[in-house]
Amino acid sequence: MADRHPLADLWDIEPGSIYLNHGSFGPSPRPVRAAREEWSRKLERQPMKFFCREMEEELDRATETVARFLKTSSDRMILIDNATVAMNVVAASVSLAAGDEVLLTDHEYGAVKNIWQARCRPVGAKVTSAILPFPPTDDQIVEAIAKAITERTKLIVVSHVTSATACVLPVRAICRMAAKRKVPVCVDGPHAIMMLDVNLNDLGCDYYCASGHKWLCGPFGSGFLWVHPRHHHELQSPIVSWGGSIAGRPASWKDRFQWLGTRDPAPLLAMADAITFFTPERIAEYRRYSHELISAARSQLLEIPGTGPFCTPAETDFVSMAAIELPQPPGWKPGYHGHPDELQVQLRERYGIEVLTGSWNTRRFVRLSAHLYNTPQDLQTCVKAIREAVS
Ligand SMILES: Cc1ncc(COP(=O)(O)O)c(C=O)c1O
Repeated sequence: MADRHPLADLWDIEPGSIYLNHGSFGPSPRPVRAAREEWSRKLERQPMKFFCREMEEELDRATETVARFLKTSSDRMILIDNATVAMNVVAASVSLAAGDEVLLTDHEYGAVKNIWQARCRPVGAKVTSAILPFPPTDDQIVEAIAKAITERTKLIVVSHVTSATACVLPVRAICRMAAKRKVPVCVDGPHAIMMLDVNLNDLGCDYYCASGHKWLCGPFGSGFLWVHPRHHHELQSPIVSWGGSIAGRPASWKDRFQWLGTRDPAPLLAMADAITFFTPERIAEYRRYSHELISAARSQLLEIPGTGPFCTPAETDFVSMAAIELPQPPGWKPGYHGHPDELQVQLRERYGIEVLTGSWNTRRFVRLSAHLYNTPQDLQTCVKAIREAVS
């Protein structure tokens, strides 16, 4: 493998920093940043013209590009700041009463759990959790979720690719099972966009929430919400604004989400530019190159005594992100969000490595991410540093 990918210079990663956390915050290559800046410049030159006469059509065009990429139609999708905002829209829209249940899995993202707890608590509904076997097979995952459904389950919320554990969940099979039980499914999908071939029309879900800033390298502040047409009439925005077209166009279900007060739509518009940047050849290259980096590092980490995989051990189960369980030193306590794990601090301060480490349930993990700007040397330095730190 070459020392550096030919496209690596399009990213401006800080010199001295070994950035292995694209999975949390994925920076954009220069052409995507330039496109975003150009959209902002256009707005600044003539705000009346841009907001009132151009923005809605430009958003339509960008939405069409995003929709085509995800094999769906733009009338099922709105561009929105990120997966968190999209999930809040779903939470504001789903009808829940006392005793109802929203079923998650024990691999779901902490903020997503918070969203549903905040939604359920005031109405006397509750969040329930399907505990997935460890490490699980696809059939066991579907079975564990199926078993946790009750007659009060009003929605299943499941990650396409889980956050801390980096497992690819069989969402299509989950949706098929849920449809038979007549329970709608909301997929939390930020990591799947570009990492996997996502076909939104074919997945069988009711809602799909995602961010553009992860593997697609879209701008920070870009994402989308996909909604099956059977739910369009139910959708509510947690942020109430004018609720109609600024340009005076005919009413649509999207109106409540296009204008959320005055804000710069540049990140949303430039999400389409990220899709233009990532030609099919570049996508294939990102998947091949980052998988090679991650699988080599993962295999080396798994040789450390006390480590183990989180998902099934197959190499085909991950692309550009993998999580590994680490041994727990005496006195180690599971941390909580916002309180950096000691290992994370140590790797950053001693080696300039930015990587996600922490606790998931009561297990200690490290999660490695790689994109086209990472080098084999980045991963080697990280593996060596982790080996020294945990051995
Ligand atoms: C599985 C999952 N869901 C939701 C989110 C939230 O994404 P954002 O912060 O872009 O809204 C993340 C972020 O890491 C995630 O990993």
